[in-house]
Amino acid sequence: MSTKLKIGLFGFGCVGSGLYEVLNQSNLLNASIEKIVVKDPTKKRNLPASNFSYDPNSILDDPSINLVVELIDDADAAYEIVTTAIRKGKNVVSANKKLIAEHLAELLVLKDEFGVSFLYEAAVCASIPVIRNLEEYYNNDSLAGIEGICNGTTNYILTRLNNELKSLPAGKQAFDLVLEDAQKAGFAESDPTLDIDGFDSKYKLQILILHTFGLKTIPEDVLNLGIRHIKTDDILFAQEKGLKLRLVSFARKINDKVVAFVAPLFVKSDSFAYDINNEFNGVSIEALFSDKQVFTGKGAGSFPTASAVLSDISALQYGYKYEYKKLVNASSLAQDFELKVFVSADNVAALGKIKLLEVEEQFTSHNYAYKVGRINVSQLTHGLYRNNPDLFIAFYSESEISINNDLLAN
Ligand code: HSE
Repeated sequence: MSTKLKIGLFGFGCVGSGLYEVLNQSNLLNASIEKIVVKDPTKKRNLPASNFSYDPNSILDDPSINLVVELIDDADAAYEIVTTAIRKGKNVVSANKKLIAEHLAELLVLKDEFGVSFLYEAAVCASIPVIRNLEEYYNNDSLAGIEGICNGTTNYILTRLNNELKSLPAGKQAFDLVLEDAQKAGFAESDPTLDIDGFDSKYKLQILILHTFGLKTIPEDVLNLGIRHIKTDDILFAQEKGLKLRLVSFARKINDKVVAFVAPLFVKSDSFAYDINNEFNGVSIEALFSDKQVFTGKGAGSFPTASAVLSDISALQYGYKYEYKKLVNASSLAQDFELKVFVSADNVAALGKIKLLEVEEQFTSHNYAYKVGRINVSQLTHGLYRNNPDLFIAFYSESEISINNDLLAN
């Protein structure tokens, strides 16, 4: 028997209005949106104003509402809504990756304490059903690694820079132009820094790590390098070698530690990431017995994201909860590991700030310089290089990763 779900919806932007539409079109669910709370009374919406309330308590204090669907942009406000709803015994569905990544541990305790379900399939790669697969299908095969293109905005930017290099304006202008197009198309976060500096990809990676390896992390634990400083010459470098640049969320178990990072990666034509273009996302899951499996689909946008929210609502009809079975055998994150890296800058002096081991290739001209070698990633984690406007840093997907043995012994 399914339970009738009476939904209190927070947010009626791109995803919230999409949900309203897909829920109306789906006659399979025993669920209805009872109340919608939004922040800005002056904003133009495609429903009459009488459908909206501006007071969060109109949902949170209503005992007849048994499901809160939180689809707002502001992670701090979302935290208040979600934690209050859970404390009031309501099930919650959220698409807010930042909120979840920043408060993972607390939210897991809270939902258990109040005996509710907290689902968030839409928070990672929108329409791709990756969380529930990790929870259910991959709960008895030992997982070796997970790699994803989890951010539609940066994938859109990298695809266009690669495909239209000759027709786009030179230098930084090209980047700004394609970012603006991504914003217009509604993929980008309201603060696009979250996309282009790799934070959005990192929040999603943290959620994937939780469901892949049972490991709870905080954002500060995981390195994120973005694409803000990419130059036309970096794309040319990749093209000359038959490679593409993709912003990848990466986690792999090596010697019982989990190596995890978000970084631009040079990928070869045989990589799953090579053919994932524009705002599409893709996730490759590697398991001991099933080997690699790749999921692809739309990772951003109104209906693709709403479809994942709809799926969570549907699962809740039958009381579905994530069980987090892998938490029992959680392993820990490797903090100190080495891999092959490419670093470029507009000038040699800037490039000199970064020390590579075993340099295998370098180039210098009056306005562009790069080198390729191995790096100990701990050099990057404190932000000294990450925030240096002159440097673009990318890893090689096929490179061998080694973990510092001294740390392994700890
Ligand atoms: N800004 C995000 C992206 C939206 O570009 O993927 C979907 O999470």
